[in-house]
Amino acid sequence: MIIYFTGTGNTGMVARRLADALGEDRIVSLDHRLNAPYQPLEAVGEGERVVWLFPTYSWDIPPVVAKYIAGVDLPGGSHARHYMVTTCGDDIGLTHKRWRKAMKRRGWQAEGAYSVIMPNTYTLMKGFDTDPEQLAAEKLSAMPARVKDIAESIKTHYGEEVNDVKTGRWAWVKTRVIAPWFHTFDMSAKPFRVDPEKCTRCGRCVVECPMKNIAIQRSGYPKWGDNCALCLRCYHQCRLKAVEYGDETKWKGRYLCPETIKRTEDTYKRTQRQE
Ligand SMILES: Cc1cc2nc3c(=O)[nH]c(=O)nc-3n(C[C@H](O)[C@H](O)[C@H](O)COP(=O)(O)O)c2cc1C
Repeated sequence: MIIYFTGTGNTGMVARRLADALGEDRIVSLDHRLNAPYQPLEAVGEGERVVWLFPTYSWDIPPVVAKYIAGVDLPGGSHARHYMVTTCGDDIGLTHKRWRKAMKRRGWQAEGAYSVIMPNTYTLMKGFDTDPEQLAAEKLSAMPARVKDIAESIKTHYGEEVNDVKTGRWAWVKTRVIAPWFHTFDMSAKPFRVDPEKCTRCGRCVVECPMKNIAIQRSGYPKWGDNCALCLRCYHQCRLKAVEYGDETKWKGRYLCPETIKRTEDTYKRTQRQE
């Protein structure tokens, strides 16, 4: 079984490619499920593979995913073999160790851990922006070969603890010092706002939010609640660039994974036709 969380689509695209390469037909998106870990997932059989895919957030597992793993009802989870694939813009620090710990707490067997470099989506702090187009294109074109290698490794290393990840420099400091600070002080949804000059009140950000954390106010403009994954889907998917995070994102880039652009365009074309 493949279980994935994606914000802007990178991890979703990797999940689908990996499912193809492994011949897995059970692929579960965590959109709208992260709030409900008590909803049981389908049972997994003895020795079956469970691959967890998520983006790296501040050199760690996204807190909403960590919480989900800690609480999810996965019948047969303790007899399965678990794997991690995380996508990142640059490097993951010790995310794989954090994941191994999360698996251990559940009594689940953690085998291979892998990372895939994809276009960066984090823009909320000074010095952080989306990649230049050329770099994003290079990362995307290197991805299929990387996913193929990961699938081969998963198939061939049965029962082994593989760590095929890019930890980067200062990995310990990033994961053990910066990540806890980031999770406590820098993951608030409060600064999200729309520019009323640009926002057409289309409600697309409300529909797209994987946490159902955005609601329409009486005025018709969206308002963010407290249950935010900070995945930035709302920010990146707004075609009119109306969603901002305080003033920090005013001059920053926007990125959506090409497959996500296609999917959302198709969905909106279909809805328009029905109207
Ligand atoms: C809140 C947040 C934190 C991030 N932290 C990191 C990081 O620590 N290291 C890194 O290389 N990329 C980081 N990124 C970039 C994403 O991990 C990367 O772009 C990923 O492929 C996005 O996946 P998605 O499209 O499935 O959401 C971060 C992105 C966000 C939104």
